[in-house]
Amino acid sequence: MSILYRSDEARGPAWATYFAEHAPDLDFRVWPDAGDLTDVEYLIAWQAPPELLASLPRLKVLFSSGAGVDHVDFSKIPDHIPIVRMVEPGIINGMVEYVSLAVLALHRDFFDYIETRPKRIWNPLEVPPASARTIGVMGMGVLGQAVLARLATYGFDLRGWNRSPRRMEQVDSYAGADQLQPFLAGCDMLVCLLPLTETTRGILDRRLFAALPKGAALINVGRGGHLVDEDLIEALDACHLSRAILDVAEPEPLHHEHPFWTHPRIFLTPHVASMTQPETAAPILLENIRRHQRGEALEVIDRSRGY
Ligand code: GLV
Repeated sequence: MSILYRSDEARGPAWATYFAEHAPDLDFRVWPDAGDLTDVEYLIAWQAPPELLASLPRLKVLFSSGAGVDHVDFSKIPDHIPIVRMVEPGIINGMVEYVSLAVLALHRDFFDYIETRPKRIWNPLEVPPASARTIGVMGMGVLGQAVLARLATYGFDLRGWNRSPRRMEQVDSYAGADQLQPFLAGCDMLVCLLPLTETTRGILDRRLFAALPKGAALINVGRGGHLVDEDLIEALDACHLSRAILDVAEPEPLHHEHPFWTHPRIFLTPHVASMTQPETAAPILLENIRRHQRGEALEVIDRSRGY
């Protein structure tokens, strides 16, 4: 019985070290040093190409090394193999840091000062209290809730939107397609933390932007596929949206000629908002493997829902 790790190469050794120390009875292998594939029972991977899956006849569980599973083609994975996504403190903390930084940088006009500095203009802008800004988070899963909880500590006015109703203290909750427009109508900043599914693909489009108040800003830390790129450029150029902070693109890496690279009101980072941290993720993977070995249920993704 063995476990195969096939994800970020640089972080592979840290995973192997954790397993060597805490589970010496388990044979933990790091791709490409995979050994005999026929005895691999657990795969932890970012991409799980069909050729690889076909070569793992004893595979019992596929663990995604990331929080999202949208890159996994469910149709290529036999139905009896459960898929488990990665929910671990490192990913959550990274996301909380990134979104807090983005919201605070917008709230405190950092991007305006970056723009005016070369002109040597000493121009203090009014600082409204955090309570005067409404931040809306789309997607109230583990990450969305952690982000909202941290933003609450700054005193922002908060609202969240989710496919199915979710309640949270200090957050006005909206749910479902019917409540999307009223949710958007009050958001000064909109954070997208949705899973990418057939229903959410392209959700950040012209119609959605039109429902936001003039001057609103967008923070997309979901997936590039949520966003209709040309609609964002149009909304920024029409000065309906003020700024966008994007951590994700489609495809990644973003094409060299893409207008996002040079747009003055887009701030772009290369999908770094949060990363799976071996130190905190390896214990969670090990715990899940132990549960599976004991015959206990795992929290698996719902293939029909897409996350
Ligand atoms: C990163 O985007 C992840 O899904 O963990």
